[in-house]
Amino acid sequence: MKIGIDLISFHTPSYVLDLRTLAEKRGADPDKFIIGIGQERMAVTPPDQDIVTLAANAALPIVEKAGCENIELLLFATESGVDQSKAAAMFCHKLLGLPSTCRCVEVKEACYGATASLRMAMAMVAARPHTKALVLAADIARYDLASPGEPTQGAGGVAMLVSTKPRVMALDPESGFHAEDIMDFWRPNYREEALVDGKYSTKMYLTTLIRAWKNYKEASERGLDDHTHYCFHLPFSKIAYKSFSRLCKTEKIPEPEKEELDRLLAPALQYNRQTGNTYAACVFEALTSLLDNAPAPLDGKRIALFSYGSGCMAEFFSGVVQKGYQEHLFTDTHREMFETRTPVTYRQYEDIFNYGIPKDGADHVFAPYRSGPFRLAGIKDHKRRYEAK
Ligand code: CAA
Repeated sequence: MKIGIDLISFHTPSYVLDLRTLAEKRGADPDKFIIGIGQERMAVTPPDQDIVTLAANAALPIVEKAGCENIELLLFATESGVDQSKAAAMFCHKLLGLPSTCRCVEVKEACYGATASLRMAMAMVAARPHTKALVLAADIARYDLASPGEPTQGAGGVAMLVSTKPRVMALDPESGFHAEDIMDFWRPNYREEALVDGKYSTKMYLTTLIRAWKNYKEASERGLDDHTHYCFHLPFSKIAYKSFSRLCKTEKIPEPEKEELDRLLAPALQYNRQTGNTYAACVFEALTSLLDNAPAPLDGKRIALFSYGSGCMAEFFSGVVQKGYQEHLFTDTHREMFETRTPVTYRQYEDIFNYGIPKDGADHVFAPYRSGPFRLAGIKDHKRRYEAK
């Protein structure tokens, strides 16, 4: 029985900051951001968007295309939760009109949560093959202003429908994973911005990539050549090149020439370079980017994926793109979304960054910004109020 991604959709906010603008303000060489870390723009999340609306906006095209029948599980992976108790999945359950016979849960392990959710969804669907699961992942990546992490900020959400008749990608059962309790990146409850040891986090990303790869290789008996393209978790896009180089070194094979490296990696980096880090959504944003932008059809091709969540969890896994998958993508919607984003000035970026909603529980109404189908209208009596536009 095949199990995998039946449909996949991505959403990012309608506002964007060019990193050349940020570089000028920070007195940095723009090439450090654009070439050195591989980012061109960062998504800027207006006050009336949050992880709930980013995820619901990503999921709506899936629900409109496939309906909600037999969706018995809704998992929402995020590290930008809006409530300590209520799952963000509950808000999405209502916005998307999902059946009441649906388990709704929020999942957290930094950027790894969506991969964990996908594996759990696969297990549930395997046990009840006529049912489906909807996996959502959305995050807003925030670091201190003028910190090294700032140019890697971003925002976005991914939605994936998981079923036993996957039209886009059948996931392989084998995977390799690795867990280790470390403090490389974290966000205590009293902070809006993450704390990070940037160099250590990059070192641990690459170290655990190799541990997860070795476990995957043993479980699957596959080598690097068995995968046509690679989708990595992308805290910044340059890490994909560092990762593949590390894999080649581990396998004691020469690194491919630049043209071949770009063929293996670049189509999956296209969206991330324009949105910045989307944390839990990242590796699946990379997959969406690859599916939408691969220069040649991917029917029947095996794709490798690597998920890393600080703290830390790493998983290497793979899937086979299904015949006729292109008919089931939302490529045009994604292209239009990217093409119609509104650029913001540095001042507008900083104003939005510093926009504070009351922390004393006072009521609040959000002015309408450009957005997808759903927005956060306000907070009343300590309750978030979402609305469809
Ligand atoms: N032209 C071209 N390249 C330039 C340049 C220029 N003018 N100036 C610098 N560079 C290059 C540097 O040589 C360097 O390249 P290499 O890594 O290949 O050596 C690159 O640009 C970055 O320069 P620095 O190392 O000096 O950058 P930095 O220390 O200011 O910040 C960072 C880099 C540590 C990644 C920082 O952005 C950061 O802290 N980011 C947040 C944490 C993060 O992303 N960690 C990744 C792993 S953790 C994870 O994956 C979970 C998650 O999502 C957060």
